[in-house]
Amino acid sequence: MSTEHVFQFSYLAAAALFIFSLKWMSAPATARRGVLAGEIGMLLAIVGTLLRHDVVSYQGIFIAFLIGSAVGVPLAYLMPMTAVPQRTALSHAFGALAAALIGTAEYYQHQPHGFVMGAIVFETLLGFLTFTGSLMAFGKLQEIVPTRPIVYRNQNVLNLALFGAAVAAGVMLIMHPERTWLFPIFALFALIFGVLLILPIGGADMPTVIALLNSYAGLAAAAMGFVLDNKLLIIAGTLDGSSGFILSIIMCRAMNRSFTNVLFGAFGQVQKAAAHAEQRPVRSITPEDAASILDMARLVIIVPGYGMAVAQAQHKLRELYDLLTKRGIDVRFAIHPVAGRMPGHMNVLLAEADIPYDKLYEMDYINSDFAQADVALVVGANDVTNPAARNDPKSPIYGMPILNVDKAHTVMVIKRSMSPGFAGIDNELYYMDKTMMLFGDARAVLGNVVKELGATVKV
Ligand code: TAP
Repeated sequence: MSTEHVFQFSYLAAAALFIFSLKWMSAPATARRGVLAGEIGMLLAIVGTLLRHDVVSYQGIFIAFLIGSAVGVPLAYLMPMTAVPQRTALSHAFGALAAALIGTAEYYQHQPHGFVMGAIVFETLLGFLTFTGSLMAFGKLQEIVPTRPIVYRNQNVLNLALFGAAVAAGVMLIMHPERTWLFPIFALFALIFGVLLILPIGGADMPTVIALLNSYAGLAAAAMGFVLDNKLLIIAGTLDGSSGFILSIIMCRAMNRSFTNVLFGAFGQVQKAAAHAEQRPVRSITPEDAASILDMARLVIIVPGYGMAVAQAQHKLRELYDLLTKRGIDVRFAIHPVAGRMPGHMNVLLAEADIPYDKLYEMDYINSDFAQADVALVVGANDVTNPAARNDPKSPIYGMPILNVDKAHTVMVIKRSMSPGFAGIDNELYYMDKTMMLFGDARAVLGNVVKELGATVKV
């Protein structure tokens, strides 16, 4: 088999593995296989690329590989799960920068005409704006940049004008590729636009924005495939671009928000002050009380949310699950599509604690079960359980699909205080007669409930 054959085969196999990877990653039971398929696909893609006749310097590639690994490996090991959104933003930033720089190099080397020049303009426009946009998203999530939406007069008009100027410069470059002086101006417009695009968006909306930036980075990579005549880049970039776009649509739908609302809505800021004004009585219980109520239940539905991730309470939840199922109690987990701060956040954490996949139920499948549940145990979830989404047309989350926790016979809520969640609004659920609050850090509270339950032997 010639090198050319190996190269063609590795690209074909990589493309197939990327497609299977996405398919398998769409269900918790096959997700690990999906990740492995993606990794093998990427390895084949790299090996195939290294075999190409147009590789200039293996030495340079090796040095880049060492530097990349020195940064990437510790990042993957040391980064906490709660920081995944900002790490993803960084990956998009550098992926997009790579696409933009390759496009820039191709332009200055060849100054191509027609279709290829069009692809270069598309690639570099998206690449540069995604680079600075993703860095801003990272900064907001890491709270290096103020997380509040930064809004000023005529912002949208100014942003649109800047984007229009970048597009106009790009069109001019397609028509006159020899005007090399225009390229830095075009790139600068795109870089500034990326920053301005993210400024008016609140830190809390960043996960949705990151999915959208993911889509841009993928499309930039697909355009790069046309520039370099690399079919695998076209396939992988298109998969990335479309899956990022679909993901951002799913996230917007699950929050009952539109793209324009996410991009220009400054959500989660105005309401926060109002939420603290509320001072109504709630019923608070001890872990001992909670243990005895759980002990008597037949069906318990656990609703995890962002607070479980913050507290890293998934392992304690597993212990509780074991104790309850040993007593013959039916325990199910209700997963809301936007619980936590990133897609699949709850699934990943519960899988890490080895909770069986078949006990995780998506919202649409479990919502009708709440009416039969003796206890709905809410662990650090808030907005995804707020009945205002169903009952209060004035609420900012009105229309967002929620878990029907309020239909259970008894509701227990574990959280540290009466502070609101992501949307910054109060939750009627906490004031219902059937609701009991277990105040404290989720891991500590669950630890105490487990201790109490372990101490009582069922007869
Ligand atoms: P949230 O509504 O954000 O509520 C989380 C709750 O956890 C808070 O009320 C907080 O109350 C509690 N908490 C925090 N740390 C805790 C700890 N150590 N122990 C116990 N409780 C703790 O979470 P949710 O219900 O998961 O909803 C997710 C929200 O994020 C939705 O509004 C959704 O639209 C939004 N969002 C999600 C995504 C994705 S993709 N998942 C993307 C963008 C936006 P205390 O401070 O009182 O403890």
